Amino acid sequence: MRNLQELQALFIGELEKRNFGENPKNLYEPFHYILALGGKRLRPVLTLLSCEAFGKPAEQAMEAALGIELLHNFSLIHDDIMDEAPLRRGKETVHQKWNLSIGILSGDAMVVEAFRQISKVDDSILREVNEVFAKAATEICEGQQWDMDFESRDDVTEEEYIKMIQFKTSVLLGAALQIGARIGGADDVGAAQAYNFGLNLGTAFQIKDDILDAFGDPEKFGKQVGGDILSNKKTILLLHALNSSDDSTQSELENWLKTTDQPEAKVEAVKAIFERSGTVRYAEQRMEAYYRMALNNLDECEVHGADVSVLRSFADYLYHRDH
Ligand code: IPE
Ligand code: IPE
Ligand code: MG
Ligand code: MG
Ligand code: MG
Repeated sequence: MRNLQELQALFIGELEKRNFGENPKNLYEPFHYILALGGKRLRPVLTLLSCEAFGKPAEQAMEAALGIELLHNFSLIHDDIMDEAPLRRGKETVHQKWNLSIGILSGDAMVVEAFRQISKVDDSILREVNEVFAKAATEICEGQQWDMDFESRDDVTEEEYIKMIQFKTSVLLGAALQIGARIGGADDVGAAQAYNFGLNLGTAFQIKDDILDAFGDPEKFGKQVGGDILSNKKTILLLHALNSSDDSTQSELENWLKTTDQPEAKVEAVKAIFERSGTVRYAEQRMEAYYRMALNNLDECEVHGADVSVLRSFADYLYHRDH
């Protein structure tokens, strides 16, 4: 079974060979721009890894892996519009470099191409794979809508937050693994456990993303640090600080939530509150709990015939990531 770096290189090599279209330029340039910006390629590599873990060569899962990465990149273009984000993967976001309409339409074209690639799986599993993929795509939209709705609410619970991040982020890791497992020949329980592994890993991953959004190194993170604070995102950090700090800290925080005219001071002040309220430590503990659950799911995959050693090192790599 090949390791993470080998499968990453295999995927990137394949992606570079693809040309999804040329004209109109204003449709296809942003399409290729975002794909060529790189990123960690976590989700397609999970599909390839999962396929090999269950016993078939990763090449058989290549089209599915492309479909997964295309759906992810669509979600990033539209997410950056919704979050008014200036930076992605260390470069200008699509809507900023071109414009809003181009961001919307190139994202739409990516979803269509994603479904085209996914539909290339073997006929024997096509219906099931299409449904797994479509369900994840729908749930991403549902999660994204909650994420936006929560910006203007002040009574979001941690339970609601977890459901929101599982929909916007974790389900795609779950689908990536489940689809790879199916192509690799997994039985029903093996495929379901592969999904659960992705769901828990993705939840830990998004909690880490929320921590990095506030405390990451701007050089490595590739996105605007503090963006979540500026848009009052109900991240686990903000929820914990709102619910567990003393009254004066809470009212200080509530005042910052209403502040829109001093962005730099707001980011610094809210980060200082997070730090002194033990909020970062709390978020890390929640993240660790989801990693542990993910590793338990891997044990189940092993019982159902998978060689999970590389998936285990993948989880470890995500745990220690700094971008
Ligand atoms: C960004 O995902 C969106 C989230 C779900 C946090 P990644 O951190 O995997 O982004 P890239 O693909 O590596 O740029
Ligand atoms: C990502 O949430 C969810 C999707 C892209 C679907 P974020 O808004 O936290 O992602 P980043 O931080 O911009 O990558
Ligand atoms: Mg965003
Ligand atoms: Mg977002
Ligand atoms: Mg984020």
